Amino acid sequence: MEPLLDLLLFLIPIYVANSSPVVLGGGAPLDFGLVLPDGNRLLGNGKTIRGFLGGILAGTVAGGMTAVFYQSPFFPNTEMQFIGAFVLAFGTLAGDAMGSFIKRRAGVGWGKPFMLDTITFLIVALVLVYPLASARLYEPLNLVFFGALTLIIHPLANLLANRAGLKNVPW
Ligand code: CTP
Ligand code: MG
Repeated sequence: MEPLLDLLLFLIPIYVANSSPVVLGGGAPLDFGLVLPDGNRLLGNGKTIRGFLGGILAGTVAGGMTAVFYQSPFFPNTEMQFIGAFVLAFGTLAGDAMGSFIKRRAGVGWGKPFMLDTITFLIVALVLVYPLASARLYEPLNLVFFGALTLIIHPLANLLANRAGLKNVPW
């Protein structure tokens, strides 16, 4: 396993991208209200265009700022780390939308808790960044750490966002 600090700093663009839409989101939904033949929305009202673009921007900026003062062992150089920040942020929001897509197909209403949406965004971000990242990123213990931390942080962050009045529901 890589040093803890390296693992935590790697997660910055992902976590910022995933949490910022709660504040930045709103307005028109990403699926423009489209309903599929199963009678459920493509993604639902929880995924907005502003949240999607805002989350990608916030995650990229956060990861880019990190890259200025710290060379991640998971990217070969600073340039790749910058591009990596964008790819991780994009993967996070794409994965988040995919999670909602699966949730809707399973008939789970938007805003309802669902095991999958805790981890889909992390998996998609890690898969998309594969061409840019060093192989050591995918060392099993690193992945276990990313997964375990996310499973703990995600519900905690949602609870805090709810208590802070940012979210209507505590999940
Ligand atoms: N959000 C957004 N745009 C996105 C993602 C999130 O505007 N692309 C905002 C929405 O206000 C959303 C909140 O962030 O309600 C929390 O996001 P999340 O928990 O991912 O969505 P849910 O509302 O739970 O919807 P779903 O059931 O589809 O996960
Ligand atoms: Mg949710």
